[in-house]
Amino acid sequence: MRTLYATAVFMLLAGSTVLSAATYKGQKIYIESCKECHGGGQEFAGSKKQRTWGKLMDNKGEKLADIHLSSKKATNSWEYFKSRAFTKNARHIEDFLVEYASDSGNVPACN
Ligand code: HEC
Repeated sequence: MRTLYATAVFMLLAGSTVLSAATYKGQKIYIESCKECHGGGQEFAGSKKQRTWGKLMDNKGEKLADIHLSSKKATNSWEYFKSRAFTKNARHIEDFLVEYASDSGNVPACN
């Protein structure tokens, strides 16, 4: 049992080192810009399918920005979603979210 667990951890670690640089960059941006409200990035990314993320992040994250800009609960994010920093990085954020989407095969799961 213990060995099994260690093997699983090892495989997870090994898997994460082969992530593309783009995904890593997206993850970093997520941690800086989204984590305070949405928590751990990989779990959050795993809450949707690749296609859903693709749609939300279409057109430089237009839809995602809309969701936040039309929610009073997300006021603290408005400045960010209106900024060029967001549209410029939308592609990287998408890479990261898609990489860990629920149907990506990259989400740590019991299979
Ligand atoms: C200041 C807090 C805040 C920040 C920062 C923030 N969000 Fe949100 N986000 C919210 C709130 C609040 C909602 C819920 C809006 C609603 O439903 O009214 C939301 C909604 C969402 C949704 C839709 C939720 C769903 O389940 O369909 C997604 C996807 C999302 N955020 C992703 C992100 C990403 C990616 C980032 C970083 C680029 C980010 N958010 C940054 C507060 C934030």
